[in-house]
Amino acid sequence: MDLLLAKDDYAGLKQLIEDNKIKCAISKTCNWTDVRQFNLMFSTEFGAVAADNPDDNKVYLRPETAQGIFVNFLNVQKTGRMKIPFGIAQTGKAFRNEIVARQFIFRMREFEQMEMQFFIRPGTQMEWYKFWSEERIKWHQSLGIPAEKLRFHDHVKLAHYADAAMDIEFEFPFGWKELEGIHSRTDFDLKQHQEFSKKKIQYFDNDIDAATNKPYGNYTPFVVETSVGLDRLFLTIISLAYAEEKWLKEDGTEDSRVVLKIPAKIAPTKLAILPLLKKDGLPEIAKQLMDDCKSSFMCFYEEKDAIGKRYRRMDAIGTPFCVTIDHQTKEDNTVTIRYRDTMVQERIALADVKRLVMEKII
Ligand code: GAP
Repeated sequence: MDLLLAKDDYAGLKQLIEDNKIKCAISKTCNWTDVRQFNLMFSTEFGAVAADNPDDNKVYLRPETAQGIFVNFLNVQKTGRMKIPFGIAQTGKAFRNEIVARQFIFRMREFEQMEMQFFIRPGTQMEWYKFWSEERIKWHQSLGIPAEKLRFHDHVKLAHYADAAMDIEFEFPFGWKELEGIHSRTDFDLKQHQEFSKKKIQYFDNDIDAATNKPYGNYTPFVVETSVGLDRLFLTIISLAYAEEKWLKEDGTEDSRVVLKIPAKIAPTKLAILPLLKKDGLPEIAKQLMDDCKSSFMCFYEEKDAIGKRYRRMDAIGTPFCVTIDHQTKEDNTVTIRYRDTMVQERIALADVKRLVMEKII
């Protein structure tokens, strides 16, 4: 079979299946279609004028951002005068002809990746692989993802370019799934680019090797890669943050809200500034606070509707802090701050608002 696969002999593979009377595990029948190749990459044509033979102008959309980093390795290393170890990170679109694209934005045909290739000395890949797996899981936790919702999953079957690989998995509402991949990619990619571009891609390491007492010299760097899907990370945060809450009020009637409990440091809007009334000088105080804060973090000013309605709107977009300016503010320079997750309200000095928010978002 390996020989037939290597030769792309699809008719031969079909014959092999029929000769061995192999049954489908699900339908238990031998009713097979012809063997066909999956198109895992998206192809298109390059150039404004169509070629006589479409294959002449055929190009592929990238299925990972990584290769752009590999081809720029020497540009970055030389212009930045970088010494190994160092990393190059970027974010950008990737395209895959997924066989089944589903589960909302979990698996799409066009998605956004954030990848880093970390260039290292050959032979040090296992220590950097361990280093980056620990750093990356800590980074996810720093976004407010609870440790018990994250785990490592080692790959048993490795991609052709890797000598070690694992996923960081998250427990989505539909089960444990890959959120990020960490791969020790050896020198495979740089060597491939070197071979096909016929341009030397090497690094001269003048640090002294303690074993030989000589510089490490010229080599093709090894690479540890971290690769996370931006859309998948967004889905992770939304899965954790979205809540529909109901409770009984003091008069026995039910109240409810939809709230996005996004950690304060990544919430799009940090502070809502709400004058209780549109008069009596309250908007002026509120606008002054807005001016003091808006260059440091994203604020939202609103004077329309009852205060309860305004709080609900801020809950629904995940604003962690609301500050209300009322008549007491004019007397003692204090405001009411309301915390999104607990709905607790307290009185604090107007002068302390900016510092309090800054402390929570950094
Ligand atoms: N350069 C290595 C690489 O691309 P991968 O495990 O295939 O590795 C890395 O992809 C990450 O990209 C995944 O962990 C996932 O977060 C995201 N990803 C992959 N395919 C995706 C898709 N079809 N839709 C959304 N995100 C995807």
